[in-house]
Amino acid sequence: MRPPAEAIASLGWVVGAIAFVILIGVEAALVWTAWRYRASRLSGPPGQLEGMTRLEIAWTAIPIVILAVVFVLMVGTMREISSSAVAAVTSGPAALRVRAIGWQWWWEFRYPRDGGETVTANELHIPVGAPVDLELESHDVIHSFWVPELAGKMDLIPGRTNRLRLYAAHAGTYAGQCSEFCGVEHAWMRITVVADEPAEFARWLELQAAPRTPPAPVSPPSGERIFTALAQGERVFTSSVCSSCHTIRGTPAAGLAGPDLTHVGARRTLAAGALANDAASLRAWIADPQRYKPGALMPRVPLSDADLDALVVYLGSLR
Ligand code: CUA
Repeated sequence: MRPPAEAIASLGWVVGAIAFVILIGVEAALVWTAWRYRASRLSGPPGQLEGMTRLEIAWTAIPIVILAVVFVLMVGTMREISSSAVAAVTSGPAALRVRAIGWQWWWEFRYPRDGGETVTANELHIPVGAPVDLELESHDVIHSFWVPELAGKMDLIPGRTNRLRLYAAHAGTYAGQCSEFCGVEHAWMRITVVADEPAEFARWLELQAAPRTPPAPVSPPSGERIFTALAQGERVFTSSVCSSCHTIRGTPAAGLAGPDLTHVGARRTLAAGALANDAASLRAWIADPQRYKPGALMPRVPLSDADLDALVVYLGSLR
């Protein structure tokens, strides 16, 4: 099976080549005409061509033929990359189905798991060498999922489910972007896709499915402080307004209005790509989200410095 992105790239090259040949032909005709009929060579006023039927037919027919060829190639490519066409091919591994839900301005990813779903956000992991069918839905307005190296572009439309097939031939991190204007923070609705080797992917998925590991006492002397910070951080999270929007599985925090944070510490970025995921950025982000993503629905939560520090240590530990 050819990765969808490769099929699209091939089509792009073919159409580009056709356009290049046309460009050269038109420019050559232009230069030749300008030279051939330059003023110094004309003895009288320039003549006019009128009613030259063969020429008229030729420059009507040639574009029709070219567009027909491009149309056929394009329909072939659309068939090739559509999930239904690929699903008809029985060989190869079955496609993993993942629900991708667009929110202003972040992504929710839901992996099927015996009866339920494993929820994560903003960082989509997929296995290398296996097709992945995304079921695209929207929670609010129209978004569009686009990771150019893995597949074409597909809109997420409220009230319906669109499908998009991803295929990564090589392990690595692939960058993507919401590509339908969806409000003030549209630009900070980035997508990170991590393609893992199958065993690595299975490990990751299992980890994501697990609830958070409760803060456990570590051996003193320095361990005592870390334990205190973790326990305090969890207390701050679950007792503040954080928990009314976010879920951390294994704690009473079960909010559904923001990204699931059960394993937030393992992600590469914060705020759908707006910030790197390190302690300093995490602290700055929680202290004042509007400074980094103005218009984002996350409010500023007034916290003491000590509480904020503990919260940062705690969230960073959720791996
Ligand atoms: Cu979501 Cu643009």
